[in-house]
Amino acid sequence: EKCGYPHFMLKEIFEQPECLKNCMRGRINADVDKVTLSAVIDYKERLLAAKRIIIVACGTSWHAGLIGKQLIETFCRIPVDVEYASEFRYRNPVVTKDDLVIAMSQSGETADTLAAIELAKRSGALIYGICNAVGSSIPRATDTGSYIHVGPEIGVASTKAFTGQVIVLVMLSLALAKEKGTIDDQTYNDVVKELSLIPDKMKEVLEQNDKIADLSRIFTYAHNVIYLGRGYSYPVALEGALKLKEISYIHAEGYPAAEMKHGPIALVDSDMPVVVIATHNAMYEKVLSNIQEIKARKGRVIALVTKGDETISRIADEVIELPKTLECLEPLLATIPLQLLAYHIAVCKDKNVDQPRNLAKSVTVE
Ligand code: M6R
Repeated sequence: EKCGYPHFMLKEIFEQPECLKNCMRGRINADVDKVTLSAVIDYKERLLAAKRIIIVACGTSWHAGLIGKQLIETFCRIPVDVEYASEFRYRNPVVTKDDLVIAMSQSGETADTLAAIELAKRSGALIYGICNAVGSSIPRATDTGSYIHVGPEIGVASTKAFTGQVIVLVMLSLALAKEKGTIDDQTYNDVVKELSLIPDKMKEVLEQNDKIADLSRIFTYAHNVIYLGRGYSYPVALEGALKLKEISYIHAEGYPAAEMKHGPIALVDSDMPVVVIATHNAMYEKVLSNIQEIKARKGRVIALVTKGDETISRIADEVIELPKTLECLEPLLATIPLQLLAYHIAVCKDKNVDQPRNLAKSVTVE
C-alpha cells in the first residue's frame, strides 16, 4: 500500500497535488470563479453573525490555524484567536454565543481538541470542525464543518493533512468573505483561479526531490536548525521545524524572521543551518536583509525563493525554487521542500520516519 514508495511519509508528500484536487472537487469552480462550501450555505446566518473566531488545535493543525488567522482576518475582517487546545481548555477562557470556534484535527480524535470543543459548546458558541478522518469523534461533536478529504494519513508526521487544512481555510475565508462583502471581486476571482493552479505548481516543486535529497546529506551533521519566515510563511517555518524535530530528532526552532535580532541570532555561527522562506512578496527586502545578517555571522543559509530570483541565489548557500503564486497561497508550495528536507535528513540518519520514537498518530490522551 506504499505504492512503491519506501515510506508512507514520502508517498503522502507526493500525493499532495492529487489530494488537494480531491479537497477542492465540487467546492471550487474556476470556470465561474466560485467557492461553494455546504457548511457555509447551511449555517450562513450564524457564521455571518460571528463577532470573533477562535481556532483550537494542536501540533501541525495549530500551525494551519495560524495561516487560517491571516486568511480570515485579511479577507473577512473578523478577529481570529488561535489557541493550543490544551491551554484553552484549562484556563477558563472567555467564550460567548457570538463566537465561532473552529476545531482543526487530522485524526478527529485528539483529546485536548475534543475537550476544548466541549468547553466552548457550554458557552453556546457555534462549533465548526475541519477534520480528515470521516466519522471520527470531533466531527461528531461539532455543529457543522468541512472535511479535508485527503485520504488516510499513515505517517506519524502530518504532511498532506496540513496542506488540505490550508486549502479548506482558504475556501472558508473566501466563501465567508463573499457573503460578508468584505472581499472585492477581483481578489476573490484571482484567488479562486490561482487555487486551481496549485496542484500543478506543487508538482513542479516535487520535481526537485532529488536535489533536496542531495542537499539533505550536507545537513545531517546539524544538532540545531533555525527556520525563518514572515507573514504567511511564519507558520510554515514553525511547521518545517516541527517536521525536522519529529522524524530526525534534530533540535529545530521556527521564528518570525524579524525576531532573529531579538535573541536567536546569538546562536548563529558557521555550524548553524538556517532555512529561510524568502519568496518574492511584500516582505522580500526585509527577509533579504535578515539573510545578509545571517551570512555576516557565517550561518549556512538554505533559502526558498521564487523562481528566477538572482539576488538571494547569489548569497545563500543552497537555494530551492518555488513557482510564483499569490502570497496567501505560498504556504501550500513552501511547505513541500521543508517536508522533503525533514524526510531526507531523517532517512540519511537511518531513523524510522513513519513511526518516530515517542510519538503516536492520534493523541487520544492528554
Ligand atoms: O490529529 P490532529 O490533527 O488533531 O493531531 C494534532 C497533532 O498531534 C499532530 O499534528 C502532530 O503534531 C503531528 N505528529 C505533526 O506532524
